[in-house]
Amino acid sequence: MTEGRRHPDGIIIALDGPAGSGKSSTARAVASALGYRHLDSGAFYRAITWAALQAGIPADAWDGLTSAELDRLDVHGHPGEAGYTLTVGGAEVMREIRSPEVNAHVSRMAAVPAVRTWLMGALREAGARGGLVADGRDIGTVVFPDAELKVYLVADPKERARRRLLEQGLASPSPEDVEAEAARLQGRDEIDSTRAVAPLARAGDAVELDTTALDFAHQVDAIVRMARARGG
Ligand code: DC
Repeated sequence: MTEGRRHPDGIIIALDGPAGSGKSSTARAVASALGYRHLDSGAFYRAITWAALQAGIPADAWDGLTSAELDRLDVHGHPGEAGYTLTVGGAEVMREIRSPEVNAHVSRMAAVPAVRTWLMGALREAGARGGLVADGRDIGTVVFPDAELKVYLVADPKERARRRLLEQGLASPSPEDVEAEAARLQGRDEIDSTRAVAPLARAGDAVELDTTALDFAHQVDAIVRMARARGG
């Protein structure tokens, strides 16, 4: 362990920002450049949402979910070389958690305080040894407030919508598609940033990076350089 290092496997990098700001792809690339593991915290909220939908628990009952009921949903994140694989009832759900149905419901699940409390232990455990790039909404503010590097990613809503649609395989989205997706993203931002518990917010000590006009490789490089300067 390097002297002065708080964690044996490296620093913790917290990447927060709104839906479609490029957090997950950026976090994955930064982790790969540093030989760190990527923790996509949104994937956990997505897996819980998928599990609840599959279990037939109606969305208007989610506010009352208890930790015992959450345990029974059997959602787990399994650490691998590069990141975490999510399973529900032992079956991998990495594709299912990106479905439109999950997109439409996940903000509601993520606003339930009992769900956030339930997940906190698993997320913090993932960071116990450091060497982690974690992305989400409250990573720098609540989950890892002591992270050595915090970055808050922002981008213009239409650009975020365009990226999301490209990611979903729509090669040349029409202006109407982009408008509709931008409205959906802003709807989620609204729920995520106005909820009572751990809302989407920039940590006071986070570096803000506007990626609207940034080339992906440059944005990754900028964060890797900041991370190296902080011992990563
Ligand atoms: O980043 P994403 O789109 O996969 O996030 C899915 C949802 O989970 C989103 O509505 C916000 C929520 N989320 C959260 O509340 N806190 C986090 N740390 C990560 C995601």
